[in-house]
Amino acid sequence: MEEIVTKKKWWMGKVAYQIWPKSFADGNGDGIGDLYGIIDKLDYLKQLGVDIIWISPLYRSPLVDQGYDISDYYDINPLFGDLDTMDRLIAEAKKRNIYIVMDLVVNHCSDEHEWFKKAMADPDGEYGRYFYIAEKKDGKLPCNWRSYFGGSVWEPIPGTDKYYLHSFHKKQPDLNWENPKLRKEIYKMINWWLDRGIAGFRLDAIINIKKKLPFKDYEPDRDDGLANIGKMLEEAEGVGEYLEEMKHETFEKYDAFTVGEVFNDKESEIAEYIGENGHFSSKFDFGPELCGKKADWMDHEKVTAEMYKEAIFESQARTGSIGFLSNIIENHDEPRGVSRFIPAEDLCDTSKKALACAYFFLRGIPFIYQGQEIGMENCRFDSIDEYDDISTKEEYRVCLEMGCDEKKALELAYTFSRDNARTPVQWTGGSNAGFTTGTLWMKVNPDYKRINLESQRDNKDSVYNFYKKMISIYKEPKYHEILTFGEFIPYKRNQKNLISYFRQAENKKILVMVNFQKRPQCVEIPGMTGQIILDNTDRSMTDIIKAAGIDENRKNGINIELTGYEALVIELI
Ligand code: GLC
Ligand code: CA
Repeated sequence: MEEIVTKKKWWMGKVAYQIWPKSFADGNGDGIGDLYGIIDKLDYLKQLGVDIIWISPLYRSPLVDQGYDISDYYDINPLFGDLDTMDRLIAEAKKRNIYIVMDLVVNHCSDEHEWFKKAMADPDGEYGRYFYIAEKKDGKLPCNWRSYFGGSVWEPIPGTDKYYLHSFHKKQPDLNWENPKLRKEIYKMINWWLDRGIAGFRLDAIINIKKKLPFKDYEPDRDDGLANIGKMLEEAEGVGEYLEEMKHETFEKYDAFTVGEVFNDKESEIAEYIGENGHFSSKFDFGPELCGKKADWMDHEKVTAEMYKEAIFESQARTGSIGFLSNIIENHDEPRGVSRFIPAEDLCDTSKKALACAYFFLRGIPFIYQGQEIGMENCRFDSIDEYDDISTKEEYRVCLEMGCDEKKALELAYTFSRDNARTPVQWTGGSNAGFTTGTLWMKVNPDYKRINLESQRDNKDSVYNFYKKMISIYKEPKYHEILTFGEFIPYKRNQKNLISYFRQAENKKILVMVNFQKRPQCVEIPGMTGQIILDNTDRSMTDIIKAAGIDENRKNGINIELTGYEALVIELI
């Protein structure tokens, strides 16, 4: 067996949970989720078994991109609370042995940040160098990159012949990491937060901090004459130098946990990113999220069980024991995992548990996104006006431009919009799904009477209690080591719609087996039988063996029949 080389760190073997604050819980009745709401729910999260909470941006922000546009890194958005409340959250979390991880958004800030205001007042001055500011050359913009949210990355600076660069929205100007002064400011801010007692950061859009300079055009990929900014990123080299400097100046001193939002690293770079001395502690595995994705919504392919399996197995194989991926089925930028990876006609509690089981026991750090633990699904809105997200509106516009009718474009929004994961958490079946006593900032998913925590809490067969059980198995002392550090070995990878793998260490083996289809399917259990430690159908090993008509005393590999979306975790003896 491959030796486990990883030096143990405090965050290994922990279970993480993502909070998107605006829609998590409203503590003061103004219809918007906040810090008070998060504090109120700490006991809930503790009971679920959560150790680390990553909270999407809480900083002062005009919320053009829901907080990913920061106007003051040193303050909390008054909608969410204030610094004292943040300190209280950190302290209350600490009491419960929960670590708080903040979002670090430093590729860009808001155009309402004082740095940017000063830069606009004097583009040639000191603060102008905090941003990328350039002029047209021979009547042409410095380059033809398309921003992630549509249109050119260049925006004119009023009253001048200059332009500033934004990789995302025009209200999110990119910070110029080539400028050491800017980098110093960022490190100072990071340390200021770490000194306040937070445990680390999720690093937003972090690869974008390095641009390929000097600016140049790429082959246009749409009629707008622009090129996907990703092309530039592929060529940009040297981001590692900034990441290392940042690590040395900040995280390392605090033994902080960092998880990178990295989409486009190369296989050869895994160790560099998340190896023992990597830039980050971990990075998200976006393999499954990228499944079937193409440049535009209209071209996206439907994700099949096989595509999903190949994506997760591929990431596991690439990473091996080099480091720890952070495993997800969804986040605030993606539709709900259950709606995406399970065919609509099969969506039910059993299939939701099957998906949960398939991803949760992968090697890495399991992340749960708010509401995932109760099986929240995509949300249907009646018109594009009901959507809030800027990127949804842009994608919708592109669909229409490419000849799609409104009905179809709305259907695509229902399938792919980021707002699917941004509707308020469904705590109860009562008014406003128990999210707020005030007026909702955003519609709750109309399915809240069917899907809510209140109705699942005391039901032992609920999705919620399945998550709770998964976490407690993960943490059970006799399984914790193997489920944290054990090797990932695919099992019957070629058997269609079967997602199965071992977690293996020394003389222990755990087998995860998921029949990812409605139809039953037969599968062989290798070697001797074992003990089921988790299942979603309530069948015991004896039941299963009996159903298969096998002599219970037989000790060799046996063939069993898994029912539709049956998931088993077996400790092999
Ligand atoms: C990341 C965030 C996303 C945001 C973008 C710009 O991808 O997760 O929500 O829109 O960065 O900050
Ligand atoms: Ca509130």
